[in-house]
Amino acid sequence: MQNTSLLHDCQTPLHALVVGATGGIGLALSQQLAAHPQVARLFVVARAATRSAALAALAEPSGGRIVALDCDIREEADLAGLAAEISRAVPALHLVINTAGVLQDDTTAPALRPEKSLAQVSAAGLQASFAINAFAPILLAKALLPLLRHSAPAVFASLSARVGSIGDNRIGGWYSYRAAKAAQNQLLKTLAIELSRLNRQAIVLALHPGTTDTGLSKPFQANVSTEKLFSPAFAAAALLQVIAARVPADSGNFYAWDGRPIDW
Ligand SMILES: NC(=O)c1ccc[n+]([C@@H]2O[C@H](COP(=O)([O-])OP(=O)(O)OC[C@H]3O[C@@H](n4cnc5c(N)ncnc54)[C@H](OP(=O)(O)O)[C@@H]3O)[C@@H](O)[C@H]2O)c1
Repeated sequence: MQNTSLLHDCQTPLHALVVGATGGIGLALSQQLAAHPQVARLFVVARAATRSAALAALAEPSGGRIVALDCDIREEADLAGLAAEISRAVPALHLVINTAGVLQDDTTAPALRPEKSLAQVSAAGLQASFAINAFAPILLAKALLPLLRHSAPAVFASLSARVGSIGDNRIGGWYSYRAAKAAQNQLLKTLAIELSRLNRQAIVLALHPGTTDTGLSKPFQANVSTEKLFSPAFAAAALLQVIAARVPADSGNFYAWDGRPIDW
C-alpha cells in the first residue's frame, strides 16, 4: 500500500481519521496510514488514545502530522468535542475508518457476553451492544458530516462483521452482537444515500475484517484454524486495499476483507 493511492482515482494529500486506534485492527490501520506518504494529517481516536504508548510512538515523532484524541463515541457531547477539535486543525476529512466495536465487556454490570441461547439475552446486554456496535458509528458520522460534506473524495468506512449478515446466519447465537451489526449496516446504507446527495464523491462502506487475532476475538479463537486467523497487520492491509478499490457507485454496500460483497 506504501506507494499506491489510498483512494480510487485520488493522488492528492489526504486527511484521515481512525476510531478505535488502540485496538488490534485500529492500531494496525493507524500504523499503516502513518507510514503512507499520501496521508498529510492523521487523527487517531479511542477512549484512552492519549494514554496509549503505541499511539504516542506514532504521534510524538510526527511533528503534529499525527494527533491522538480521546473520545467515547457513544457520547454525543464527546463527539461534538472531537469534531470541533478536528475542524480547528483541518477543513475536511477524506478517509474515516471506524473500528470501535465490542463483543464482550467485563466492565459493564452485568458483564456483556455474546449469548449462546435466548435465556442469556437481556435488555442491558442488547442496549450495551447496540450503543457501541450500532448507534455509535452513525452518531460519529453525524458529528463529522461538516468535514465530509465537500467536493473531494470522502470515504466513511465502519467495521461491521459477517455475523451481522442476516442472510448468512446459519448457526444462531450472539443475538445482541449480530443484531447490532445488522442495525449498523442499515444505518450505513441510509447514510450512503444521504451523503451521496451532499458529496457526489462520497463512499460509505460496511466492512468485515475476517477473523483477526485481537483482544476482541481472543476468547473465541479455539475453533479457528491458524490459517484462517489473520494478524491485525494483514487485516488492516486487506481493508485498505478494499477501500482503495471502491468507487462512489459502490457506496452503501457491505464488503469482506477480500473485496467480495456480503449478503445483508
Ligand atoms: N477481531 C475480529 O476477529 C473481528 C471480526 C469481525 C469484526 N470485527 C470488528 O472489527 C472491529 C475492530 O475489532 P478489533 O478486533 O480490532 O477489536 P479491539 O482490539 O477490541 O479494538 C476495539 C477498539 O474500539 C475502541 N472502543 C471501544 N469502545 C469504544 C468507545 N465507546 N469509544 C471509542 N472507542 C472505543 C477500543 O479502544 P478503547 O477501549 O481504548 O476505547 C479499541 O481501540 C470491531 O468493530 C469488531 O466488531 C472484528
